[in-house]
Amino acid sequence: MDRVAVYPGTFDPITNGHIDIIRRSVPLFDKLIIAVNDNPNPAKPYLFSAEERVEMIKEAVSTSQKIEVESFKGLLVQYAKRRGAKFIIRGLRALSDFEYEFQMYLMNRKLNPELEIIYFMTSQQYSHLSSSIIKEIAKLGGSTINFVPSVVEKKLLKKFGY
Ligand code: COA
Repeated sequence: MDRVAVYPGTFDPITNGHIDIIRRSVPLFDKLIIAVNDNPNPAKPYLFSAEERVEMIKEAVSTSQKIEVESFKGLLVQYAKRRGAKFIIRGLRALSDFEYEFQMYLMNRKLNPELEIIYFMTSQQYSHLSSSIIKEIAKLGGSTINFVPSVVEKKLLKKFGY
């Protein structure tokens, strides 16, 4: 049976830290679905539409038969079930991620005990990255080239009118 994994996130936008997790998880599965969260979040409005986020990931991630990128709405566990995925991939950057991830882990496992959630420790050089910090740097005219794929850097420059 195919080992299908879902790597969910908001990816607003995707950073080199996410790419690192993708690169390391691909060899472990037959298929990796990068699932872009498109649930409305009034507390943290999206900078990029779901279509833009999906397009940026597709451009940034080398094309491989094993990788799919699409957006999803609704519960992650239901999406994973629809896609026939038994594994969820998550990245842990710092101790501060742990509490939130542990709560999500417990809840997702309650909702679907068959799901296995696998955590990757983020590589040290990416542990300070987050999409929000990237957006703030870009908004204020700083260079993001060392932190995001070049397609994302270009889109950020355009979005903020530089
Ligand atoms: N490198 C760099 N940055 C990373 C990273 C990595 N490896 N991993 C995460 N981040 C950053 C993200 O860019 C994001 O930054 P931001 O907060 O500044 O935007 C932050 O860390 C949080 O990312 P993440 O933990 O992936 O959260 P998310 O909001 O992107 O994704 C979902 C959360 C989509 C997985 C979760 O909300 C979900 O499953 N939603 C569906 C609805 C659902 O099922 N809810 C019930 C859950 S129990």
